Amino acid sequence: MDRLKDKVAIITGATSGMGRDTAYVFAEEGAKVMITGRNEERAREVVENIKKNGGEASYVIADIADRASLDKIVDDTVAKYGTIDILYNNAGVLSIQSSMDVSLEEWDKVMQVNFTSALMLAKKVAPIMKAKGKGYIINTGSVAGTSARWGAAAYCTSKHAMNGLTKALARELGPEIRVNAILPGAIVTAMLDSVGGEDAVSGMKEMSPLKRAGQGREIGTAALFFATEDSSFVTGQLLRVDGGVDC
Ligand SMILES: NC(=O)c1ccc[n+]([C@@H]2O[C@H](COP(=O)([O-])OP(=O)(O)OC[C@H]3O[C@@H](n4cnc5c(N)ncnc54)[C@H](OP(=O)(O)O)[C@@H]3O)[C@@H](O)[C@H]2O)c1
Repeated sequence: MDRLKDKVAIITGATSGMGRDTAYVFAEEGAKVMITGRNEERAREVVENIKKNGGEASYVIADIADRASLDKIVDDTVAKYGTIDILYNNAGVLSIQSSMDVSLEEWDKVMQVNFTSALMLAKKVAPIMKAKGKGYIINTGSVAGTSARWGAAAYCTSKHAMNGLTKALARELGPEIRVNAILPGAIVTAMLDSVGGEDAVSGMKEMSPLKRAGQGREIGTAALFFATEDSSFVTGQLLRVDGGVDC
């Protein structure tokens, strides 16, 4: 408890899945959490659940595919809570088209949502974190960012790019700001449901020494590690949270 007491955290894609579960973990540890996403009903529900448990949260509705809406996430957070300590770039969109079939429109959207938005938000929060002498940026990649085996062209490319962005930001934003990425394996969320749920990843489960898919909270506790001084000598790292799938 209280490992994030009075810290202000923005979590993109916190209306659902692992972003939502991370919001609950962060709030339980005392953070003031800004929930973002496009779906207002789900955003409100996450905020209400956090408040019911004695935590503090608020939401800002923004479509991060729309570059103009990204400033609003940071501006509303500063207006509400006065500062930003943690940025968790978690929102993502799946694309299942092969390189030969994907339209350039879809390609551009996947790149914007899955990593360009992270760059834009980092540019906006870094001066705030630098000025206070400390900050934490966490990015969500994927095991699809280490191999073409786990995703189709646009998704796979965007997640590989997130790895590079994580390392570049870590190098450029230190020593005040540490930047790390979580690379989830199969995690039970709406995104996994959209491609057939746990049945669709039975091969991956079989490959895992743990023989199961992961839960959103298991991503949240990994994010907590990166958002605290428990990871004080860790930056520019890509942490697979994948049940040990190892490929
Ligand atoms: N589940 C897995 O097995 C898995 C594995 C590896 C990596 N990941 C990554 O984990 C992250 C979270 O995914 P999840 O599995 O938790 O899926 P999810 O339950 O579908 O959540 C996705 C989140 O991203 C938000 N989002 C999507 N497009 C957006 C946009 N244009 N503007 C603003 N918000 C947007 C959604 O919010 P709204 O619907 O409210 O817009 C939602 O909160 C993603 O980056 C995904 O690529 C997932």
